[in-house]
Amino acid sequence: MARLNEIGWEEFSKLDLEAKRPYLEREEGDGMPYHTLFAQQFDRRLLERLCALANRIRFINKSKEGALYLKNILAGRRAMLYFSQPSSRTFLSHQNACQILGLNTCSVRDAATSSEAKGESKTDTVRTFSSYVDLIIMRCPEKGLAEQMAWELSNSERPIPILNAGSGKDQHPTQALLDIYTLLRSFETKGGIDGRTVAFCGDLMRGRTVRSLSYLLTNFSDVKQIFVAPKELQVPDDVIAILESKGVRYEVHDDLREAVKASDAVYMTRIQDEWDASKGESAKIDTSRFKFGAEELALLGPDAIIMHPLPRRDEIATCCDHDPRAMYWRQMRNGMWIRAALIASVFGFEKSVMGCGY
Ligand code: NCD
Repeated sequence: MARLNEIGWEEFSKLDLEAKRPYLEREEGDGMPYHTLFAQQFDRRLLERLCALANRIRFINKSKEGALYLKNILAGRRAMLYFSQPSSRTFLSHQNACQILGLNTCSVRDAATSSEAKGESKTDTVRTFSSYVDLIIMRCPEKGLAEQMAWELSNSERPIPILNAGSGKDQHPTQALLDIYTLLRSFETKGGIDGRTVAFCGDLMRGRTVRSLSYLLTNFSDVKQIFVAPKELQVPDDVIAILESKGVRYEVHDDLREAVKASDAVYMTRIQDEWDASKGESAKIDTSRFKFGAEELALLGPDAIIMHPLPRRDEIATCCDHDPRAMYWRQMRNGMWIRAALIASVFGFEKSVMGCGY
C-alpha cells in the first residue's frame, strides 16, 4: 500500500499520473480515491461502481425515509468549498451533493475575501480550512495546486481528503465522471459506451473537461474520439499522446458537420478566453464553423446526443434546447448524483448504501 505521507513532495510530483494513483487511494484498498485529483484515478470498474451508486442514491432519495437515511450518512461532518475561480454548476452540485449526505458546507469563493489577501500562503490557507472541516472541495486556476495541497494535508496532523473541482487548464475529474454517467445513462438500453464515437468541438486546447473526459473514455472498448476545432485551439499533444499509447482511434480536423454525422455524442465547449495572454486574442480566431445549430441538429443521428459541460455562449443555438437529444440539462443534474456517489465512496459508505433496504 503506497502512502502519501511516506513519499516526499519532490519525488511524488515527478511521478506520472498512473504511478501517482496508488498514493491517492483509500487505505481500505478498494481502489476508490481518497484524494480525487485527476481522471487517471478511475478505471472502468470504478466508473461502473460509481455510476451504480449514483443511480442507487438517486433512487433512495425519492422517498422521505430514504432521504433521511442518506442525510444521516455523513451527519456531523463538514465540507469546505474553496473556489477561487468562477463557478455555478460545479459549486452548487457539490454543495447539494454534500447536503444529500448530511455534510454541512462552508465556502470561500474569492481569495480576496480570505487571509490570502493578507499574504497568507495557499498551504497555510488550506491547512487553516482543514482545521474546521472533513473534506475540501477546491477549484483553482493553478495546475497541480490541488495535488500539492493533497500531499500537504496527508503530511499534516489533520489529513483530510481533497476533491479537485477544476484545476487550471488541466483537469476536471468530477465533470468527466458526470459526463461518463450521462453517456452510460443515455446508451444504457442501446448497448452502452463501447464502440461509440465521441466528437469534441470548441476550445480543446484550454478546456480541462476535454482532457479529463478524453482519458476516461479510453477505459471503454473501441471508442473513437474526434477533435474538431480551429487550428489555434486544437487538442493538445499530451491528450493525443495518451490516445496513441493506448491504441485509441482518433481524428483531428475542423469539419463539425462531418463529425456530427459520424458521432454518437457531440461534446461542445466554449472558447476559454479567460486564458488569453492578451485581452481579445481569442476574438481574432474564426470560430463561426464550430457552433451547433439547426443545421447540425438535422445531421445528428436519431440516437445520438449533444453534450456541453456548460456554461455556453453561442456554441449551441437555443433552438436545440428542447430536442430530446440535447443532454446538457440532464448532465447538470447527473453531476449532483455522481458527486454524491463519489463523496459517499471517499468516506467509505459505498457498500452500505448499495446494500441498504431502501
Ligand atoms: C467547465 C469548467 O469550469 O472547466 N465548467 C464546468 O465546470 N461545468 C467548462 C467551462 O467553464 O467552459
